[in-house]
Amino acid sequence: MAQERLPKVVFDYLDGGAEAETTLRENTRAFSDIQFLPRQAVAFDQCDLRTRVLGHEISLPVILAPVGYSRLMHPAGEAGAAAAAGSTGTGYILSTISGYALEQVKAATSGPTWYQLYLLGGREAAEGAIERARKCGYSALVITIDTPVAGMRERDPRNGMKELLGTNPFKKLPYLPELLTHPSWVASFLLDGGVPDLKNVVLPGKGPMPLTDVASALSRAVVTWNDLSWIRQSWNGPIVVKGVLTADDARRAVDHGAAAIVVSNHGGRQLDGVDATIRALPNIVTAVNKQIQVLMDGGIRRGSDVVKALCLGAEAVLIGRAYAYGLAVAGRAGVLRAIEIIRSDIERTLRLLGCASVNDLDVSLVRCPKEWTQF
Ligand code: FNR
Repeated sequence: MAQERLPKVVFDYLDGGAEAETTLRENTRAFSDIQFLPRQAVAFDQCDLRTRVLGHEISLPVILAPVGYSRLMHPAGEAGAAAAAGSTGTGYILSTISGYALEQVKAATSGPTWYQLYLLGGREAAEGAIERARKCGYSALVITIDTPVAGMRERDPRNGMKELLGTNPFKKLPYLPELLTHPSWVASFLLDGGVPDLKNVVLPGKGPMPLTDVASALSRAVVTWNDLSWIRQSWNGPIVVKGVLTADDARRAVDHGAAAIVVSNHGGRQLDGVDATIRALPNIVTAVNKQIQVLMDGGIRRGSDVVKALCLGAEAVLIGRAYAYGLAVAGRAGVLRAIEIIRSDIERTLRLLGCASVNDLDVSLVRCPKEWTQF
């Protein structure tokens, strides 16, 4: 449905990955390398999907990942997605690349909210956002470490993404006919005010950063382990490091005081050719040795994928595209529907597996290729 409603340039931005999209495909495919080992003929009245992440109880082990440019997909954007997360009792992570202000998103939801920080616009701009996040009640800061430059998502230049977001009308011309085949999206986009500014990247003396500047600003915004020290000075809440793919980096995150990590390859949108995250997970879980919480994302499309990730040691997962497709179709209601599909999948999978609670899932309930767990 998202593919029908969105112009190709927007759908491909959401759906696509980097370069040959090998990692994008592998993220979903690798789940089929895992087999369940069910415990049959057991009965229980209720399935318990609740779990705790960074001290918050969430109603299911699924949190909404930061998805930049969400407001291009639907006018409800980040505020609508956060509202849906809150009303289902789970958390929302707001991307730096947001069309809504930190304060508006926080006000839209009753659930936990975390802020994902890119150093767009430099340290001063980031410190301003951290201060706003603290003031309005975000409870964790998520530092994404896999984006020293934007990945080469080849669908975007083919579809004229840069030209369409830019200001030169002549450069847009070749791409307009395709846009006009989606009049309802175009109408809602224009009524929403067109291309939004980045309300959370306020450049000192200049105001919010225009969306068109993001690609070049990202390449000047690399985060290093050293940055975690000054970030820690400005933020005394928990810090989550997102984008960990190796045991070494996981241990490094522990040493730098992270409260949790997200095993992630950015949904196959950054370095193509890295491991599927579900394949990288067991090694990292072993390396972390319960010192901090391990979350994962990438390729989760069904509740059974969530259950497999929990069996291999993740405490919860993040979903990106799985809710963003819903957002694109029907705003907040679409995200609610996506979460509901995943919730009922998880419950059914637990019953079929003979396991009453997500907290009882462990490696004894699955078989995966030997090399995933032998290091
Ligand atoms: C993302 N992701 C992302 N991550 C991040 O830290 N900051 C961001 O701004 C974005 N933006 C973004 C946009 C879009 C359209 C997508 C699809 C993804 C990555 C995201 O948080 C998450 O890691 C992946 O989406 C997980 O993979 P799945 O669930 O989409 O397969």
